[in-house]
Amino acid sequence: MKVLVTGAAGFIGYHVARRLAESNRCEVLGVDNLNDYYSVDLKRARLAELEKFENFRFLKSDFSDATAFNGVYTHFKPDYVIHLGAQAGVRYSTENPAAYVQSNITGFLNVLEACRAHPPKHLVFASSSSIYGAGATLPFSEDQITDQPISFYGATKKSNELMAYSYAHLHKLRITGLRFFTVYGPWGRPDMTPILFAKAISEGQPLKLFNEGKSLPDFTYVDDVVDGILKVLLYPQAEPPLHPR
Ligand SMILES: NC(=O)c1ccc[n+]([C@@H]2O[C@H](COP(=O)([O-])OP(=O)(O)OC[C@H]3O[C@@H](n4cnc5c(N)ncnc54)[C@H](O)[C@@H]3O)[C@@H](O)[C@H]2O)c1
Repeated sequence: MKVLVTGAAGFIGYHVARRLAESNRCEVLGVDNLNDYYSVDLKRARLAELEKFENFRFLKSDFSDATAFNGVYTHFKPDYVIHLGAQAGVRYSTENPAAYVQSNITGFLNVLEACRAHPPKHLVFASSSSIYGAGATLPFSEDQITDQPISFYGATKKSNELMAYSYAHLHKLRITGLRFFTVYGPWGRPDMTPILFAKAISEGQPLKLFNEGKSLPDFTYVDDVVDGILKVLLYPQAEPPLHPR
């Protein structure tokens, strides 16, 4: 079985690719453009760990380049696609929205189009808790209205869910989006709260809280996220959605 993992040099992509490679039951192709949103050395160090596995291969490629991504996809012909590559980060999306359109909208469309041409058994992609914007109530649930994202990052993730829905409907693709909630663990992202807190504590510095400390996110351990992704991967919805809920 062949599995394509986008964003394989990223935090969650690294853990997913590693778990798949360790299982020794599949051939894993990792794709990433190694962007410099945070330390490229950290991304390369994750890849160095992955490249110890014979059944893992890495290709530096940008999925916002349709021709390049199509070439990679068509050559590999994956049975399953796990799309974890994205321009991540809530605050940076105010500073550089164009990066989010390029990777999360154009890039996502390119992934969908590649899947349309050669349908995998299942495409699983990362959405986000950030789509719960104004008007969402705690505890969050899948059926809440999510059309008022309060960050541009959240808007791109909500768009991904809508784009995926239409492709599943129009082209009978099996697609599942998972809304992750602040993921933490080894090899974690240096821009995220758990690592920022750990760094501040180890340096004896105060913790920087937002919204007067009233909006601390829920945290999910990365191994639990990997378990979820891989369990969902093997069980696509029996029929693509035909009717709105
Ligand atoms: N980590 C979290 O807490 C969290 C929470 C909610 C959603 N998510 C989503 O989960 C996914 C993985 O997140 P992560 O924490 O591993 O982020 P990450 O930034 O560590 O990994 C994303 C990877 O995608 C790559 N990438 C970006 N644009 C690309 C492009 N155009 N072509 C190829 N590669 C590209 C980056 O270089 C990076 O290595 C993302 O979609 C993110 O939005 C993460």
